[in-house]
Amino acid sequence: MAGIFDNLQSGVFRDERVLLPEYQPPQLMFRAEQVQAIARCMQGVARGQPPQNVFIYGPTGTGKTTASRLVLTELSEFTEKAVTAYVNCWESYSRQAVFSTIADQVGEALPKRGVGADEIFSRIVQRLKYDRKACIVVLDEADRVATGESATILYELSRAAENHGASFGLILVSNVPDLAAGLDSRIKSSLRLEKVEFKKYLPSQLKEILAARAKEGFLPGAASEDIIGLCAAFGAKAGGDARVALEALWKAGRNAEKRGAKRIDESDVRASYAVAGEWKKEQRLSGVSEPEQLVLDILTKHGEMTSGALYEKYMALNGESERQIRNYVNSLEKRKLVLVREAQPEGSRGKTRLVKTA
Ligand SMILES: Nc1ncnc2c1ncn2[C@@H]1O[C@H](COP(=O)(O)OP(=O)(O)OP(=O)(O)O)[C@@H](O)[C@H]1O
Ligand SMILES: [Mg+2]
Repeated sequence: MAGIFDNLQSGVFRDERVLLPEYQPPQLMFRAEQVQAIARCMQGVARGQPPQNVFIYGPTGTGKTTASRLVLTELSEFTEKAVTAYVNCWESYSRQAVFSTIADQVGEALPKRGVGADEIFSRIVQRLKYDRKACIVVLDEADRVATGESATILYELSRAAENHGASFGLILVSNVPDLAAGLDSRIKSSLRLEKVEFKKYLPSQLKEILAARAKEGFLPGAASEDIIGLCAAFGAKAGGDARVALEALWKAGRNAEKRGAKRIDESDVRASYAVAGEWKKEQRLSGVSEPEQLVLDILTKHGEMTSGALYEKYMALNGESERQIRNYVNSLEKRKLVLVREAQPEGSRGKTRLVKTA
């Protein structure tokens, strides 16, 4: 008798992981030039020379994160003279958080509590000097650390060679093209950023990216050229965004799978759009999670509200901690789905954050 697990065999997927947003493709199509430009800036470390800092910018879903991670991986395979670290500044943006994330990846174990940012930084420096290595750091979503107090992080890292004898190479990544414009001139001059632009993908490029991924992820015949074209068109409409295109394809595969079909058809692709209202459809497709959707629903209903009131409403509906809800709001803000501004309520000294849908 066939086991129950035999019956679970997929009708469409060969390897579904390949289609997931977090999958790291081994090769990045149409980005050879950019990847080389970044690599060229970093290559000096292999000969013990200081690396050239880089600024990668371009619209969302154009391969910036994937490219910078790829360079880190290849660099650590290429030379022993560098350690690498990746920091998502939307998750870690305080000095303490950024430095801890780096410390962790350069092999500097920290006690769980009670180590201040200065101490962490000096431990990283000691570690690099002891190991005689430079540290290449990707600061992804770097706009989060380019303003206010967090900007000192950029200053400290870019001056560390001069001030402490430990060399850092920075790869800053952002959607904001004029990131440097907002920086303090002292920070700007110590960074000396080489710029690398990632342009939005053309529809034909999206199609090729999807086709390559479909070949790995789907069983033969599951995703036709037309289906791939349709998903590529969604990505093109979203501004040349490969993430949107890939997600459309993956979800269409899921829909076909649910029907027990062996081929994805057009209705499977459209179904991933089939939620009331064009606006909401776009959000879903660009990967708004259920809790984030709840945040958006509350804001749509109530209009602009203070973050405190929003947390309260949310918790009443769905539990979870304030911190988690703050993360949803931050992530929505990053994708420009909500707007956040600071205001000072009358008769109060403190500031409050006001949130509304974009
Ligand atoms: N050239 C490419 N070849 C294959 N896959 C790609 C390519 N470019 C992007 N992708 C895929 O598209 C998705 C989005 O890419 P990535 O996360 O690197 O974009 P990003 O530019 O960092 O976007 P954001 O600005 O929103 O952070 C990923 O799943 C990635 O695998
Ligand atoms: Mg990214």
